Amino acid sequence: MTEPLLTEVDHVAIAVRDIDAAIAFYEETFGATVVHRERVDSDGVEEALIKVADSYIQLLTPTSDDSPVARYLEKKGEGVHHVGYRVDDCAAALQSVKDHGGQVIDQAPRPGSRGTTVAFVHPKGAFGTLIELVEE
Ligand code: CO
Repeated sequence: MTEPLLTEVDHVAIAVRDIDAAIAFYEETFGATVVHRERVDSDGVEEALIKVADSYIQLLTPTSDDSPVARYLEKKGEGVHHVGYRVDDCAAALQSVKDHGGQVIDQAPRPGSRGTTVAFVHPKGAFGTLIELVEE
């Protein structure tokens, strides 16, 4: 048996139109706390991370009308956008996707938010889920 490449659910990303309203919902309803906020201009998003045990809920909102998340909201509305799986080695996990005929969005690992290294896997070939591989 080889070691599993996915070590934890890092985050569930939820696309929202009004990030402050979404934060207020989680804070007021569930007593949740935002532990990190960041604008990632390269991805055209602002994110807020809410810690749940060792994982996060990642609230995502677009910062420009032509960003992928803006297009997603237009097409599908608010809701679960992608699942981030924590990995020890993003490059190795991405290579395994390629080796097994998966379709990747990022050909190589790249910088993510909060100093992580990430790569996205296309939902086509991943049973309809946009997957983010996250190396801390
Ligand atoms: Co993410």
